Amino acid sequence: MRRIAIFISGEGSNALKMLDEYSSSQTIDVALVYSSKHNLKVQNACKEKGVEFHFLTWNLKTQEDILGLCIKKDISWVVLAGFLKLIPESFIDSFPNKIVNIHPALLPKFGGKGMYGMRVHEAVIASKSSESGISIHFVNGAYDEGQIIAQFKVGLEPNETPETLSLKIRTLEHMYFSETVVQLVQGNL
Ligand code: GAR
Repeated sequence: MRRIAIFISGEGSNALKMLDEYSSSQTIDVALVYSSKHNLKVQNACKEKGVEFHFLTWNLKTQEDILGLCIKKDISWVVLAGFLKLIPESFIDSFPNKIVNIHPALLPKFGGKGMYGMRVHEAVIASKSSESGISIHFVNGAYDEGQIIAQFKVGLEPNETPETLSLKIRTLEHMYFSETVVQLVQGNL
């Protein structure tokens, strides 16, 4: 069993999917969920599944506390499922090539600081791309720049809007993210 931590900043739909899927997994044990925002829905799901949940505002002190917690809980992989804060170097050094992020577009385009939520989909549509998708990648010291592990694509319709695209992307994320993490921790990717 690989013990993972899931970090979130938003709604937490990917985290909820993972909590559900991994509760019967032979490969992955979710040992903790950290949220940088209040999230009652994820907190309740964690309670129901017996998973430790922490809500703390992200600052220099709490970054250290969370790193300490991950080390104490013998975490081997950290999964950023819609986590919007920059991971500090001290954290990356403690988990080299063991921190994974999901981005709602085909990196290296449409990434970087401030590129999250609807802004990403608006930028994709404004670029007149014929496709978008999701990128699952390792985390380094810069937003969305770590090595890409896997990408999954979806086509854009001529009348595509940021809202319709966001629904397509969310569906792709729920289809592929949790399974990609399983393949990754098993050493298949
Ligand atoms: C997801 O679409 C994820 O790709 C995105 O945040 C959303 C979180 O949704 N991440 C980024 O934009 C990172 N730059 P969720 O909270 O419902 O899982």
